[in-house]
Order: sequence, then C-alpha cells, then structure tokens
Amino acid sequence: MYSRLLKISSEKSFFLFGPRGTGKTTWVKKTFNDAVYIDLLEAEIYYELLANPQRLDKYIPRNNKNWVILDEVQRVPDILNEVHRPQRHNKFHS
Ligand SMILES: Nc1ncnc2c1ncn2[C@@H]1O[C@H](COP(=O)(O)OP(=O)(O)O)[C@@H](O)[C@H]1O
Ligand SMILES: [Mg+2]
Repeated sequence: MYSRLLKISSEKSFFLFGPRGTGKTTWVKKTFNDAVYIDLLEAEIYYELLANPQRLDKYIPRNNKNWVILDEVQRVPDILNEVHRPQRHNKFHS
C-alpha cells in the first residue's frame, strides 16, 4: 500500500477530484473510517436518490456529527442541493 501525502485538516466539506483508479475511495474510507459512506455506484441507492434526492436523509442518522461521504456524487448532481439545506449539521465529502 502506498502512503499518501494528502492531509485534510479542514472542518469544512470538500470535493475530491481525480481520475478513476487513483485511490480516492480507498483514501476517504481510510481517512474517515467512522463516516457515513454512501456509494452512488450502487444501483439501488443511485436510482432512489436520482428520483428523490431528498431521501438522502434516510441514509444519515439524526444529529449525525460524523463526515458523510458521497462517493461518485457527479452521478446525482441534485443531491448537492440537499447538502446545502440550512438545517444540515453534517460534514459532507464527495
Ligand atoms: N495507497 C494505495 N496503495 C496501493 N494501492 C492502492 C492505494 N489506494 C488505492 N489502491 C488500489 O487502487 C485501485 C483503485 O482504488 P480506488 O480507491 O477504487 O480508486 P478511485 O476511487 O480513485 O477510482 C484499487 O484496486 C485499490 O486497492
Ligand atoms: Mg472511487
């Protein structure tokens, strides 16, 4: 396993961009191992959230204080409006 130089000290949400197969998923899972991880490559979740982005709530425990990872978020752009809803207290990463 190659070690990575990337360090995220931010308390804020962020996007992690990069070509396929460069270790993004591996890195976020390892770095935020207690995060809520939502994989938009999973067909069932993908089609549900594509049709009803507001159902994102269903996947996140109430008053969640952990990071929320939205892997492959570009597949469901409308989900970003949910992330910005004012009552949210989650930290999002995608
Ligand atoms: N730090 C690393 N060292 C060695 N192999 C890695 C490392 N990170 C990821 N990989 C391997 O590279 C492949 C792609 O990783 P993945 O995290 O799925 O990339 P991405 O999410 O950017 O498409 C996987 O087979 C994974 O096991
Ligand atoms: Mg990935």
